[in-house]
Amino acid sequence: MSETKVFKGLNGLSKTVKLNNGYEMPTVGLGTYKSQAGEVEEAVKYAIGIGYRHVDCAWFYKNEREVGVGIKARLDEGVLKREDLFIVTKLWNNFHDKKSVVPKLRESLEFLQLEYIDLFLIHWPFGFKETADNLPTDGAASYSDVDYLETWEGMEECVNLELTKSIGVSNFNKEQIDRLVKNCTIKPVVNQIEVSLGIGVIPKSVTKTRILENFDIFDLELDSEDIAYLDSCNKNMRISPMSAYADHKYYPF
Ligand SMILES: NC(=O)c1ccc[n+]([C@@H]2O[C@H](COP(=O)([O-])OP(=O)(O)OC[C@H]3O[C@@H](n4cnc5c(N)ncnc54)[C@H](OP(=O)(O)O)[C@@H]3O)[C@@H](O)[C@H]2O)c1
Repeated sequence: MSETKVFKGLNGLSKTVKLNNGYEMPTVGLGTYKSQAGEVEEAVKYAIGIGYRHVDCAWFYKNEREVGVGIKARLDEGVLKREDLFIVTKLWNNFHDKKSVVPKLRESLEFLQLEYIDLFLIHWPFGFKETADNLPTDGAASYSDVDYLETWEGMEECVNLELTKSIGVSNFNKEQIDRLVKNCTIKPVVNQIEVSLGIGVIPKSVTKTRILENFDIFDLELDSEDIAYLDSCNKNMRISPMSAYADHKYYPF
C-alpha cells in the first residue's frame, strides 16, 4: 500500500458520531499516549494516509510537536483540508486556574501547528499547583483545590475565542458531570473514559500493521459469543486509576 496516497477509509468514509453541538466526531481515532517522539510523527502520517481522521493528543503526552509535524505533512500535500481532520488535546492538571486555560491551549496549538483544534478536554477533574510536578509524589502539598467549574469557564473562553470547536471532559464521574452540566454555559460534548466498548475508540499504536488493522473495523460485527468472550475478560479494574491522588477533593473514582 502506498503510504503517501490519501484515501477516505478502508471501507468507505470513516464513521462519525454527531456530538450534542452538531459537530461530527470520527469514531476511530489514533491514540498517542506514550508514542515516542521518534515514532509518532510517522505513525500519524501513516494513519492519516490510510484514512484515520481523528487524532487524540494531550499536553501531558509531551509529543504534540511531533504529532503536529505528522499532521502538517499530510495537510501540506493539499489532498486533505484542515476541516477533514478531528484533532483533540487536553488540559493537564497543573493548569486548572481559569487564567491558565487559554494560554495552555495556545501552547498546544503552537506545538501542533494548528489555528484551532476540534475538541479540548479537561484531562482529569482534580488539579495540581502550577509549580508542582506533572505527577507529584508529595501528596496534598501539591494539590490545587481549584473547582473544575472554574476551569470550565476557561474552557468556554477557548470556544468563544475560536481556539476549539468543542469542549469536554475526561475521567469525570457522573456526579461531576451532572454538576458541570447544571452550572455551565457551553455543555461538554464528550467524557473520555476507559471502557471496553464505547461509541468511539482511540487505539494507540506506532506499528503500521496494527494502525491498519485497528482501523479496518467498519464491517466488523460481534456476535453474542464474541460479546460473551469480551465480557469474560472484564477484571473490574482500571488501567489508569491515578489512585495516588485518591485523597484529592475532586478525585473521581
Ligand atoms: N483521557 C485519559 O485519561 C486517557 C487515558 C489513557 C489513554 N487515553 C488515550 O487512549 C489511547 C489508547 O490508550 P492506551 O495508549 O493506553 O492503550 P491501547 O491503545 O489500549 O494500547 C496501546 C498498546 O497496544 C499495542 N497495540 C495497539 N494496537 C494493537 C494491535 N492491533 N495488536 C496488538 N497490540 C496492539 C500498542 O503497541 P505499539 O504502539 O507498539 O504498536 C501499545 O503497546 C491513548 O494513546 C490516549 O490517546 C486517554
